[in-house]
Amino acid sequence: MATRTACIAANWKMYKTVGEAVEFVRKLREKIETFDDREVVIAPPFTSLYALKDLVKGAGISLAGQNCHWEEKGAFTGEISPVMLKDVGCSYTIVGHSERRQYFGENDEDINKKLKALIKVGIKPIFCIGEKLEEREAGKTFDVVKTQLDGGLKDLDSVDIAKMVVAYEPVWAIGTGKTASPEQAQEVHAFIREHLSMLTNKNVANEVRILYGGSVKPSNVDSLMSEPDIDGALVGGASLEVDSFLRIIRFEA
Ligand code: PGA
Repeated sequence: MATRTACIAANWKMYKTVGEAVEFVRKLREKIETFDDREVVIAPPFTSLYALKDLVKGAGISLAGQNCHWEEKGAFTGEISPVMLKDVGCSYTIVGHSERRQYFGENDEDINKKLKALIKVGIKPIFCIGEKLEEREAGKTFDVVKTQLDGGLKDLDSVDIAKMVVAYEPVWAIGTGKTASPEQAQEVHAFIREHLSMLTNKNVANEVRILYGGSVKPSNVDSLMSEPDIDGALVGGASLEVDSFLRIIRFEA
């Protein structure tokens, strides 16, 4: 891996009450060591962010939102703004997760507005892209990923793009137990980096961390992290138990 600091991020989706989230972080704090070559991020449901804000301090754990609205405030019932996420201690926020795209109709244009809004307040987006099974089978993986990158990053300049984390999550590998092989993932990660280099320049493309997501587990994290363009993992199911998440944090590449 290049000099990029690895990033292991937990996406808890719609799991864990406040009590459960606090208990998890307390246990994780007891066991986690200090790393200087990797970063740990937790994206709990919105309801737990405030309760975790102080608990993660000094433990080398950063907080992330799982989604946001693009406006700062307004009459948008049920939505949460980047300013509010910052207020409760988020330094990252996931944007464009495939579940948001699939179940809540998010498109590249919405995602572009969210990315811009987050950057404006100084939150680093974790920008998710990835193809569906039928798209992979039709040989369209690179086209899909390229369209998502172009749409999501429209009108963002190199300075902004340098602040982002990209997460490649093939939809067919999310929550299915089917992981992309390290080689399959590496192939797409290299393509993403190459395309980022065209959108910005080589230096920025080399700085941006590209995480892999989709059934990352203690048993496959080491081989995934051994690939040169895989800089971290976005972990759903296997991040819900302390020991499993800790083993992923402790990957050996
Ligand atoms: P999974 O989810 O690890 O359960 O496949 C990953 C994600 O959706 O980010």
